[in-house]
Amino acid sequence: MKIAMGCDHGGIHLKEHVKKYLIGKGIEIVDHGTYTEDSCDYPDYAAKVCRDIISGDSGADRGILICGTGIGISIAANKFKGIRASLCGDVFSAKATREHNDSNVLCMGERVTGVGLAEMIVDAWIETEFAGGRHARRVEKISELEKACE
Ligand code: RB5
Repeated sequence: MKIAMGCDHGGIHLKEHVKKYLIGKGIEIVDHGTYTEDSCDYPDYAAKVCRDIISGDSGADRGILICGTGIGISIAANKFKGIRASLCGDVFSAKATREHNDSNVLCMGERVTGVGLAEMIVDAWIETEFAGGRHARRVEKISELEKACE
């Protein structure tokens, strides 16, 4: 698994922590920034990560996005066709969104979620497989909604 990561200034510390945590597990990371605490705009980093996943340019098939709350960056990510971004602040949701929604982007809020819980959320999200079946039909309906909005 190769994961594209991005954040704004509100998520820089948690992004760096999660990045090191995943590299320690042998997971390859493509870091799209931001790289400093300077104020920046979260939609720009959602766009970098989502465009990378959609294009297949780096080979990353999943993404992790972090801002202060996780809310703005998840709203921005879900504007991209083919992206199913899930804002998670608990382990149950992280597992369920993989099983039910085939989530391909995990979003978290640095000002909301501590590093210990973030590690558990990330673990659940990367280890859980999509359940398919009736959930596949529902995910397909999301794709149809995207086409209807074109
Ligand atoms: C930045 O101050 C903050 O608005 C951003 O990180 C995020 O929380 C937006 O949803």
